[in-house]
Amino acid sequence: MNTHLHITSWVLAFILFAVVLILNKSGKTKGATIVQMILRLDYLLILFSGGQLLFAYFGNAMMGEAIFKGLAGIWAILAMEMISLKSGREEPLKGWWIQLIIAVLLTLILGFGRLPFGFLP
Ligand code: HEM
Repeated sequence: MNTHLHITSWVLAFILFAVVLILNKSGKTKGATIVQMILRLDYLLILFSGGQLLFAYFGNAMMGEAIFKGLAGIWAILAMEMISLKSGREEPLKGWWIQLIIAVLLTLILGFGRLPFGFLP
């Protein structure tokens, strides 16, 4: 199971996402673009490790919930990407922030609260 890679990669994503926002806020859009590229590579790690975790659910009773967890995770990634992009262009962000909060809450509740592959061994 790849829970450690999964958690490490999304924690890293939150950090990189914050860095992108801070750089864009302070007008350093070039720096923000570079960090955004690293963030996109990190999305692949999240998807890969999440996909691997999801694979382990195929055929068992919690498969539906695990698929829903994966969709919520993809939604969270999408919202982060949209906010990163729009923060560089000073476009309105409120709707995407609301979506990000809902998607992250869903992933955390389903990931930690409901599904059984705990963080602890
Ligand atoms: C920002 C995006 C994401 C966040 C914050 C997130 C968060 C989490 C958390 C907190 C866990 C529980 C780890 C544990 O119990 O130790 C988890 C597990 C999991 N994640 Fe994600 N995840 C994200 C993206 C994804 C994506 C994109 C997929 C699918 C492609 C996915 C699929 C899974 C699966 C199948 C598990 C196993 C559930 C379990 O048994 O606990 N996740 N994730």
